[in-house]
Order: sequence, then structure tokens, then C-alpha cells
Amino acid sequence: MATLRRPLVIAHRGASGYLPEHTLAAKALAFAQGADYLEQDLVVSRDDELIVVHDIHLDRISDVAVRYPGRSRPDGRFYVRDFTLAELRTLRATERVNEAGSAVYPERFPPAVGSFELHTLDEELAFVAGLARSTGRVVGIYPELKRPAWHREQGVDIGKLLFGKLTEFGYRRRDDPVYVQCFDFAELERWRHDFDSELKLVQLIGDNAWQESPTDFDWALSEPGLAEIGKIADALGPWIPTLIDPKTSRPAAWVDSAHRRGLALHPFTVRADDLIVGFDRLRALLEWLVFDARVDGFFTDFPDIAVDFLDESVFSGRA
Ligand code: G3P
Ligand code: CA
Repeated sequence: MATLRRPLVIAHRGASGYLPEHTLAAKALAFAQGADYLEQDLVVSRDDELIVVHDIHLDRISDVAVRYPGRSRPDGRFYVRDFTLAELRTLRATERVNEAGSAVYPERFPPAVGSFELHTLDEELAFVAGLARSTGRVVGIYPELKRPAWHREQGVDIGKLLFGKLTEFGYRRRDDPVYVQCFDFAELERWRHDFDSELKLVQLIGDNAWQESPTDFDWALSEPGLAEIGKIADALGPWIPTLIDPKTSRPAAWVDSAHRRGLALHPFTVRADDLIVGFDRLRALLEWLVFDARVDGFFTDFPDIAVDFLDESVFSGRA
């Protein structure tokens, strides 16, 4: 069996277990905790700026409803795409709340506290470059194109915007410390063929019930799907439950097949306060991912716990 390599720790929306997701404070903490990569989810503003934010909506992670009453769409939601960058800068970014306004993760940072702001991808890339200069340690970036087809319906090509921005900031070559992720396989095909991009690409795998993208995830994990994706992508980013064979609790058959095809596995999301069904302890989940499924990296809201686990396991020092 091949030697086990130290998996990458990908800070999911920053150290979001401790500070509001996608704030620069959460990114700085993740860097300090030793994450290898910082994630950026991306949505486009009314004036075509790439905003680092997870949802196409603003109402669960900001005070938009209070500050801009009357600016929701007929569905009652407030969309990033309907606000200029100048307007977005006036919002207070908060810990995530649910439809009723209660904290999604009650033990995390309080939603009512803090004066955090939303920011652009430009600002985060400059921030990452600044940290590299001041500390001498390079941290990678892991941008996600959120819903490219929806963005096209809204009149903007998010893929083209991101490709231009990464090129401008010097992320151009295969070895550069960046993975570009998307749930939509057609978008990854564009990057490889139309943009002729060398960058490492990641096909995210969710559940078809989420209606996240036109890609059929059952097809993606079939042998023909893995073969097609293997021609385009460097890694799969699967939702952790898809890795698990429900009959045996062992890694699903496709896991080995993906590895044999040269696809790395970067599953999501390891959370100390929201364990995957079937695991009663975080350590058991980490051991299963690293030693049974032999993943090549994983997304986590708690980079410190992940780094400590890897340091205490067979991995001494950094890979
Ligand atoms: O990008 C990996 C993981 O973050 C995908 O799920 O919804 O948290 O962006 P989500
Ligand atoms: Ca993401």
C-alpha cells in the first residue's frame, strides 16, 4: 500500500468554528492555527465585484434586513447580486443565523457581537500576500465558484471574473498554491478547455436533493463519471457521507476508484460541534478519514484541532 501522506488542512470559510465565517479575522486565525489552505466562497455584487461570501443571499450572515428594508426580492431574501460593493461595505457581517434569527451553532461566536465587514476577493488575496511577506509562510487559497449557471442568468460570468483575478494576482501555474472548486462540472470543463487553465481543479460532490448545480452527483461517482472528471479535475471534494458505504461503514467502492484514477480526495466538512452521523467523537471521524478513507485533505471549521490531530498522529512536522 502507498505511503500515507499528510493530508491538507483546508480552513472552511476560515476558522469559522471560532469567528464569523469568511471575515478576515476568521482567515487570520486559520492562518495562525496552521491551516494549509484558506477557502473563499464567491458571489458577484451588482457592480461585478467578487465578494467572499458563502450564500447568494445576505440575510443569514449580516444585518441587511435592518439596514436596507425593502430591498428583498419577492421571495423575501436579500441577494448579494442586488447590492453594490459600496452598499455591501455598510453591512455588519455576523455569525450565521437561521430563518428565525437564532444562531445556527449556539456555542460559537455570538451573532450580536462584533463589527466585522464583508470584503472582496481582491482584499483577501492582498491579505494572503501580506501574511506571506510578514511571516515568510505561504498559505494556499481555495476559491469556490458559487452557482455559475445562476450567475449567468443574473447577467454575469463569475468564472471569467475569477480567472482574470487569479491571473492578475499571479496564480497561473499548476504548482501555484491554489485549488479552484465548483459543484458544476461544465464550469470546470470551461476552465480546462476554454480558459486553457493549468490550475488545479476540484469537482465538488453533494447530494442531488440540494439542487446545487446541473451536475448529477450519482453520475459523477459512477465509473464513467469518474473517468470523465478525471480528464479535467485534479481532486474531488465530496460531502463526507458520500464517502461511507452505508452497509459496511467502510469507504465506498468509488473512493478507491477515484484514487486509482489519480483524483485526490478533499471531503467536507469536519466540525467539532456538528459531527457526521455515525461518529460519536471528532477523533473517530478524523481517524476514519485519514487512515481508512486515506483522504488527501479535508475542509474543517476547526483548523487547530485538525493540525493537532495530524501532528500527534504518524505525521511528524509538515509534509
Ligand atoms: O467547498 C467545500 C464545501 O465548502 C462545500 O460546501 O456549502 O460549505 O460551500 P459549502
Ligand atoms: Ca465552499
